[in-house]
Amino acid sequence: MSFPRHRPRRLRSSPAMRRLAAQTSLEPRHLVLPMFVADGIGEPQPIGSMPGVVQHNRDSLRKAAEAAVASGVGGLMLFGVPRDEDKDAVGSVGTDPDGILNVALRDLAADLGDATVLMADTCLDEFTDHGHCGVLAPNGSVDNDTTNDRYVEMAIAQANSGAHVVAPSGMMDGQVAAIRDGLDGAGHTDVVILAYAAKFASGFYGPFREAVSSSLEGDRRTYQQDAGNAREAMREVALDLEEGADIIMVKPAMAYLDLIRAAADVSPVPVAAYQVSGEYSMISAAAANGWIDLHTVVLETLTGIRRAGADIVLSYWAADVAEWLA
Ligand code: PBG
Repeated sequence: MSFPRHRPRRLRSSPAMRRLAAQTSLEPRHLVLPMFVADGIGEPQPIGSMPGVVQHNRDSLRKAAEAAVASGVGGLMLFGVPRDEDKDAVGSVGTDPDGILNVALRDLAADLGDATVLMADTCLDEFTDHGHCGVLAPNGSVDNDTTNDRYVEMAIAQANSGAHVVAPSGMMDGQVAAIRDGLDGAGHTDVVILAYAAKFASGFYGPFREAVSSSLEGDRRTYQQDAGNAREAMREVALDLEEGADIIMVKPAMAYLDLIRAAADVSPVPVAAYQVSGEYSMISAAAANGWIDLHTVVLETLTGIRRAGADIVLSYWAADVAEWLA
């Protein structure tokens, strides 16, 4: 096929023409804001490697959440940061109704009701003293099925606290099926599972480890995926869909755009992508140096992630972008 008379620049001739011809949209409702809430802090604590992002206390979380929802973001994803002395081998404080994450979920559920979609990270790494996403076997490996039992308890605790969406991010085999059965058994048939389906062992999570005051030494390569494995990522997606995932996620985003596209091409449910902490830090640092323009680059990356096929994008800029787009 050739189109000898076609001059593509005609459709770029004015802002109005470009707006009309734009294929990919980026709207506040597509964006989810990840937020950190910490126990036992007075003032909100800045996260050095993520300028502009803080560990909230309960009060500052409520204010920031309300502002984010007012800006129009599609949802909030909550991560809890317990006191160090409350961490233990099985992450008890993650399932404790009085643990920081569950308390904060109740705060936001009371404040916001159904005005937003309240999501919770369903993972043990913030709550274990060893920092792994699961429970350790005697030989030090992460025990898959014992961990799933804990995820089920955690998901039920989060649903009881008002989470509309639970988001298992630990990459255990069978975690989605276990959580679905557990939620249904507890009467939470309407609670949505956003499954981190293809989650890679990534250097881009570095700043997040500071954000949640992680205790991890070592790495997560026995449960998170190798960067090069596309076929395996698609198998993880298929398994999570079979197990009942309502939304599937690819993470990180920018180094895995091909897999966002591949997942979007086959998924019968919405596809999410997570622009993770290191992606945020990298762009923030370059912009702070004056090397790139922050707004331009953030909008370009989010548009690119949407173009690759993501219906939903988690980004630490979600609320800022919602303001910029207003
Ligand atoms: C696990 C979890 C992690 C992130 C989200 N959920 C950390 C990890 O897997 O090591 C990373 C998010 C980010 O880097 O922004 N609870």
